[in-house]
Amino acid sequence: MFGAGTFMTCKKIKMKEKIQESFEKLFGENPFLFRSPGRINLIGEHTDYNDGFVLPAAIDLAIWFAVKPNDTNEYRFYAFDLGEHYSQPTGSLKPVEIHWANYLLGVISQFVKDRKTVPGFDCVFGGNIPAGAGMSSSAAIESGLAYALNHIFNVGYSTLDLVKFSQKAEHEFAGVRCGIMDQFAVMFGRKGHALKLDCRTLDYEYYPLDFQEHLWVLVDTGVKHSLASSEYNERRQQCRAGVEVLRRYDSHIAALRDVSPEMLELYKSELDPVVFKRCAFVINENMRVQRSCKALLEHDYEEFGKQMYSSHVGLRDEYEVSCAELDQLVEIARSTDGVLGARMMGGGFGGCTLNLVKKPDVSAFREMVTSGYQTPAGEHPEIYEVQIDRGTVYLKN
Ligand code: GLA
Repeated sequence: MFGAGTFMTCKKIKMKEKIQESFEKLFGENPFLFRSPGRINLIGEHTDYNDGFVLPAAIDLAIWFAVKPNDTNEYRFYAFDLGEHYSQPTGSLKPVEIHWANYLLGVISQFVKDRKTVPGFDCVFGGNIPAGAGMSSSAAIESGLAYALNHIFNVGYSTLDLVKFSQKAEHEFAGVRCGIMDQFAVMFGRKGHALKLDCRTLDYEYYPLDFQEHLWVLVDTGVKHSLASSEYNERRQQCRAGVEVLRRYDSHIAALRDVSPEMLELYKSELDPVVFKRCAFVINENMRVQRSCKALLEHDYEEFGKQMYSSHVGLRDEYEVSCAELDQLVEIARSTDGVLGARMMGGGFGGCTLNLVKKPDVSAFREMVTSGYQTPAGEHPEIYEVQIDRGTVYLKN
């Protein structure tokens, strides 16, 4: 008999082999192989670009890369899951019409801007992170290629350099002014651990997630979020607007990280009401991360779950990045025994909810979700039980 774990492992090996085989078929060579995971964020949403705290973890859904220098002046890519090719000459790099190619070109561009030569290479990539579901498939792609290029061309960048390049690729080639959380979690993830990151200093600590009795369950609304939509960048500006006002009263304030709830309340009348709500959310969310970390250390998962629910309420009412489908899934979770906490995850406007569920109650939760929710396309939602896994890694020569 195969246990569920064995089944997942088989699926993962299959994916790796498929990518390798596809490369060998297309390019007739034995490639270097890499694996780059997706991530969940336990708590700390929209705090990263406010110099705050986040608590993400890499997961066991991933993108695999097969890569090899090709001794030509061409970059040749094959997106296995889409069955699409893209190639272009080395040299000048600009964003292109092919959406997925921008994540890759954006990374090469960072190496080139840093005066590194990136000769021609071939690359096949694909995996099982659902796109647009809030598990950072784009960060997995960026980080995976950055890691691969650093390895195959022996460039010598540190992991942190590669994280920053991947983030810049997203800014410059995908048009999203994202924070650093996703790329950091993807690269620095550790099996069985969450990572508490101080997004100002980039200091981080691992928190063991040695759950015996609980599972992280993701439920996909089936609503594809588009982070590139102006909403994400607009939230950033609103936070910035709040900081600009508050720093008139205290010049030490460089980001919302530096603002206390009392100070925000004191200058409430100076702030645009929408800006006030945005700032209130970020300040509270930072405090929730601290409380959640304490709860984890104390194995107080009930408290952790409460912080998750509270985070969702803030994201829905103050930050206004939720949507009806996410709210509905969180309400289903709230009314199901054995679900300790639930919230929307990532940028918002779609994607998944993250649920902390007691193991014996997972199948009842699945039933509640399946009977109580339909995606906009009228289907049952995808449900993922995720394990916490390691960050981007080289697999084989
Ligand atoms: C997206 C961004 C991250 C972060 C989250 C919200 O995932 O890429 O940098 O801002 O949204 O927490």
